Amino acid sequence: MSPQIHSARWWRRPVLRCAIVSLAVTSTMTVVLTPPGAVATAEAASTLGAAAAQSGRYFGAAVAGGKLSDSQYTTILNREFNSITAENEMKWDHTEPSRNNFTFGSADRIANHARSQNKQLRGHTLVWHSQLPDWVKAIRDANTLRGVMNNHINQVAGRYRGQIHSWDVVNEAFEDGGSGALRQSVFRDVLGNGFIEEAFRTARTADPAAKLCYNDYNIEDWNAAKTQGVYRLVRDFKARGVPIDCVGLQAHFGSGGAPGTFQTTLANFAALGVDVQLTELDIAQASPNAYAGTVRACLNVPRCTGITTWGVRDSDSWRGGENPLLFDRSGNKKPAYEAVLAALNGVSTGGPIQVGVNYRLVAQHSGKAADIANASTSAGAGLQQWAVSGGSNQQFDFLDAGGGYYRIRARHSGLVLQVASSSSGADVTQQADTNATAQQWRVTDHGNGTVSLVNRQSGLALDVWAASAADGARISQWTYTGNSNQRFQLQRP
Ligand code: XIL
Repeated sequence: MSPQIHSARWWRRPVLRCAIVSLAVTSTMTVVLTPPGAVATAEAASTLGAAAAQSGRYFGAAVAGGKLSDSQYTTILNREFNSITAENEMKWDHTEPSRNNFTFGSADRIANHARSQNKQLRGHTLVWHSQLPDWVKAIRDANTLRGVMNNHINQVAGRYRGQIHSWDVVNEAFEDGGSGALRQSVFRDVLGNGFIEEAFRTARTADPAAKLCYNDYNIEDWNAAKTQGVYRLVRDFKARGVPIDCVGLQAHFGSGGAPGTFQTTLANFAALGVDVQLTELDIAQASPNAYAGTVRACLNVPRCTGITTWGVRDSDSWRGGENPLLFDRSGNKKPAYEAVLAALNGVSTGGPIQVGVNYRLVAQHSGKAADIANASTSAGAGLQQWAVSGGSNQQFDFLDAGGGYYRIRARHSGLVLQVASSSSGADVTQQADTNATAQQWRVTDHGNGTVSLVNRQSGLALDVWAASAADGARISQWTYTGNSNQRFQLQRP
């Protein structure tokens, strides 16, 4: 039987809903203030940086200095990320455009922003064949080039001495393809393969506190010859006591995300006695599953100490046509953001859903079931919670919508749950099944018998309004928090 009496309250919007306020106090500690009536869950942090900090990791972004005057950009950056990498400003062409003429204006701006916002700062990069001025490329004499390279490292690393968490000392020195060898560059060609060791030794002296990383792309697949080449270099450095502390895996991925061997690669590098970091993460089309899988690979490796996405919004990306980042062009959180946040908060996605089976969705905080109001069979009827009644308007089955998403179909009506818009607080109603993205939900499995349901179109989670425990409380969508009013038990009626 369905509940019979519903006040008009369901249709009214509460005037004010208290949000979970998260204050990042330091980069490693978070205080969560929970409004009365809401249920605190200690493990759920509400920003990427705070969520990563729970396991001692950082979550950073590449920053373009010119965008620091864009308030939407800095709002997201300051709120979400606790590490910053200069996207271009610390590269050789910016810092030493002509010999011994050091220009630090744009790099300083980023370093100052990091300091004033209490963010960690990654250094990128000291020795790289690209974005390298022609005057360096033209050098043919080994002693001259050695002096130039070491002077560059001393000046740049020296300027930020004590401020840099990790330096990408050498970037992209290996060539693609099957050789596993160093690529052609002025450094290799004039100084020989030993230029990498020389650069690391100089960097250690220039900034003894910074972790010194070798950074590259296409070294995520353990089976790639390039990965093996870098592995041999790091193993050799560790064996001979050449100073190296970390390997940066750029993690510029296609739409499928990380290769299947990614976690193995991270673990194998870590086993050499270095940290690993995902230094430039972006994934074409930003599939939530691909992002979550990549992040979980890092979380599963204790020495994977942090993740940086290469930009903030899709409009900031060097791969802008591929929409590979966690925020859209308007600064909204994308579904991949929710997937990453959930992964950092220690939950897994996918879940125990069986297609074609009826479930009751029982809210964890209240013990009440998701319920189509008045057992209406009309399109547009809203979702609420009500005491478990056994009624078929409290039963739903899941239809596979592809790509890891499901439609959620009410048993009594045959209609599916749909969000009205992409706004927090927007209605969730039953509607005729069109398989629109507003009708598709990703299941986040909390691993303790509860799931959260995140809408594909909005990226927002199914949520009992203001964590109310009352019959008739509206179920709408809200920014994913992982709190218990967004967790539902899947009960077989
Ligand atoms: C890219 C920047 O994002 C672009 O703005 C610039 O034009 C080219 O370089 N690997 C790296 C990064 O190590 O420095 C590159 O950044 C992307 C690939």
